Amino acid sequence: MFRLIKQALYRARQFFQALSANLDEEDWQVLRENLNPEELAAFGRISAADQRHSLEVYYTLVREGKTHPDLLKAALLHDIGKGGGDIHLWHRVAIVLIRAFFPIALKWLAVPDGWRRPFYIHYYHPILGAEMAKRLGCSPLTVELILRHQPTLELPPWDPTPEQLELLKALQEVDGTK
Ligand SMILES: [Fe+2]
Ligand SMILES: [Fe+2]
Repeated sequence: MFRLIKQALYRARQFFQALSANLDEEDWQVLRENLNPEELAAFGRISAADQRHSLEVYYTLVREGKTHPDLLKAALLHDIGKGGGDIHLWHRVAIVLIRAFFPIALKWLAVPDGWRRPFYIHYYHPILGAEMAKRLGCSPLTVELILRHQPTLELPPWDPTPEQLELLKALQEVDGTK
């Protein structure tokens, strides 16, 4: 219980730190090198915290020696589905606590209209993000990686090659820790 509240507070602090931390020159270079203007615009619509997080996922994968361009693009874009979702600090704290104590409620909260909309956006952001990535013309593999980056969602079956599966696992693993 104490650990979970600590985790929620940590997330909240992370969010505030991210709000005050602007992108530096290295970040901009990474974004310019990896994203076209439309993709960059989609990246710009997620919160500063999610931008920071996505860049950290990218940097960690690069440090691990990952070079596959579809994976690196997915790292930067995997959370674009949260863009414009009006997910505020209290939603984030609530989501961490609900996930810990009453996870089934997250699905009940995921309704597209009214006050529950931010929970809907958060819950389904891999699907929403994959749809956006497809519209942006990302490769089928990048779209698939975005769709499946959160292992908890129920999704249609996929028949990946061993290499594709390895890329997905790498993304899921790093995403879970950053
Ligand atoms: Fe995500
Ligand atoms: Fe993420």
